[in-house]
Amino acid sequence: MTTISMRGAGYYSANTVGAKTAINKVADLVVAASAKPPALGPSEPFRVADYGAADGGTSMEMMRRLIAAIRQREPRRQIALAYTDLPHNDFSTLFRLTQGLIGEGEAIADIPGVFISAAGTSFYRQIFPDASLSLGFSATAMHWLSRRPCGIADHVQAVGAAPAEREQFRAQALADWETILLARARELKPGGRLVLANFCIDEQGRYLGHTSEVDMFDSFARHWRDLYRAGRIGQSEYENATFQQFYKTSEEFAAPFRDPASAVSKAGLTLESISTMVTPCPYAEAFAEHGDAAAFAHAYVPTLRSWSETVFAGALDPARPAAERMALLDAFYGAYEADVAANPRGHRMDYVHCVAEIAKSA
Ligand SMILES: C[S@@+](CC[C@H](N)C(=O)[O-])C[C@H]1O[C@@H](n2cnc3c(N)ncnc32)[C@H](O)[C@@H]1O
Repeated sequence: MTTISMRGAGYYSANTVGAKTAINKVADLVVAASAKPPALGPSEPFRVADYGAADGGTSMEMMRRLIAAIRQREPRRQIALAYTDLPHNDFSTLFRLTQGLIGEGEAIADIPGVFISAAGTSFYRQIFPDASLSLGFSATAMHWLSRRPCGIADHVQAVGAAPAEREQFRAQALADWETILLARARELKPGGRLVLANFCIDEQGRYLGHTSEVDMFDSFARHWRDLYRAGRIGQSEYENATFQQFYKTSEEFAAPFRDPASAVSKAGLTLESISTMVTPCPYAEAFAEHGDAAAFAHAYVPTLRSWSETVFAGALDPARPAAERMALLDAFYGAYEADVAANPRGHRMDYVHCVAEIAKSA
């Protein structure tokens, strides 16, 4: 299986302002959803999960708001907040952030009656006991597939794949979506809610890094191809760089709910609302103000590196010495940065999300 991970030690949160902004934009929906599940028994905690939380930094502000809203309704209600991610996630940073050893603002662990835990179990499995969660949240994580259905010979992401390759990715993504939903259906209490902000392709064909004439994934593919053409990486290294991801459309997200005979509908899940949203790239917005192309490139490309590096690092022959692999990655991202500095127009990593609120039948 391809390794999916982010660079550790708070690197993720510091470089993903856009991800945090996107989460804050759905905070109202999350807060409203938290008021909808049926009343809990007097000693039952309100259980919340953040699926694919990375280091927890980007959802921290939203979690504080959510906790405050629950407490406003029920001042003495205990809250169990569980973060999940893959086993090799940087849980150490997540614990230090939530305990207030790093980061800013009130530590979540310092809020009385809030109990934090974490699970290193994939969201492709059931993570929590049956009917235990009141509210599930996830942002920007469920586009990662459970497996890579095939290689992409001459691109790095399904958006640029050949039609036959793309269809295999789509089939995997639809099967994975059902797996994710069925696991959540078991975890949710009757009347529980899910708010999921997932990367998507919107009604205008926009997706992450493709909201202008420039396509970020085409840029990745081009610079990776340049290393191959220059003889610096081999053919299998070239072909191995494939994002194990797929961006669904709103229609594809909604499909299992619209079919009353689907396993998802039969499991008691209904789609309460679905919409798409674009969150502007903070680096491109800042560039529009300051106009310094080199500074823009120098701020922008590291944020791309924070989440994409493991894909390219993982494609390189492990027999290469570590320093050589790092030099290749530096050359790759260095070329991308030089490209942006020389020709900054259109480079922007706007986030394009599909936001869905889902209810489990009461
Ligand atoms: C782009 S980060 C998003 C982090 C955070 N939710 C946010 O919105 O800023 C995606 C996260 O999803 C996690 N992830 C990918 N596949 C996963 C899976 N099968 N189960 C749990 N987490 C997964 C990755 O490890 C990563 O931490």
